[in-house]
Amino acid sequence: MIEYDNDERKEEVVRMTKVLIAYSSRGGNTERLAQAVEEGARGVEEVDVVLKRAADVTNDDLMEIDALIVGSPVYFGCMSSEVKEMFDRSVAIRGRLEGKIGAAFTTSGHPTGGKETTMLSILQAMLIHGMIVVGDPISSGGHYGVGTAGRPDSEILDAGKELGRRVCEIAKKLI
Ligand SMILES: Cc1cc2nc3c(=O)[nH]c(=O)nc-3n(C[C@H](O)[C@H](O)[C@H](O)COP(=O)(O)O)c2cc1C
Repeated sequence: MIEYDNDERKEEVVRMTKVLIAYSSRGGNTERLAQAVEEGARGVEEVDVVLKRAADVTNDDLMEIDALIVGSPVYFGCMSSEVKEMFDRSVAIRGRLEGKIGAAFTTSGHPTGGKETTMLSILQAMLIHGMIVVGDPISSGGHYGVGTAGRPDSEILDAGKELGRRVCEIAKKLI
């Protein structure tokens, strides 16, 4: 939209909110959930959404974004080494992610299996960066983010979409 003020032409620039969904996946379960989170995020206006494997995420990527949604398979009750490596590399930019929005999702093999400890391990790294973390109020989703055992079903995919949407809406309000 163009406004005219004292004969000066001004352009209103829309600031796009930048959201990165970073994940690791060997068997495809977490990737499928990541794609649902991406779909939910893409439904929000004025948001740039990028989906990337954690191994490919650079510190420059992390500094550019407003929100980071991280997904990992449960490996021994924690995030995978690929996701941990992304966080370990980010120690070089400690202090630069403060105030950004964060959220987590996961898939496990066992019905309990460590989904909550895995999401909490991701949220813990985000809190150490001073990020603002978003939980999941939908009971099917899993309290600390969206988690499921095995291949995500349609209910979990919907919870993933909702997580993506909600994180974007919160980032747009806060940043
Ligand atoms: C090294 C390794 C460790 C795992 N540890 C656990 C575990 O502690 N608890 C669990 O429920 N599943 C565990 N699993 C199973 C995966 O979490 C599960 O299959 C997950 O859905 C795989 O995600 P992906 O298809 O995205 O790779 C483990 C798998 C691997 C390869």
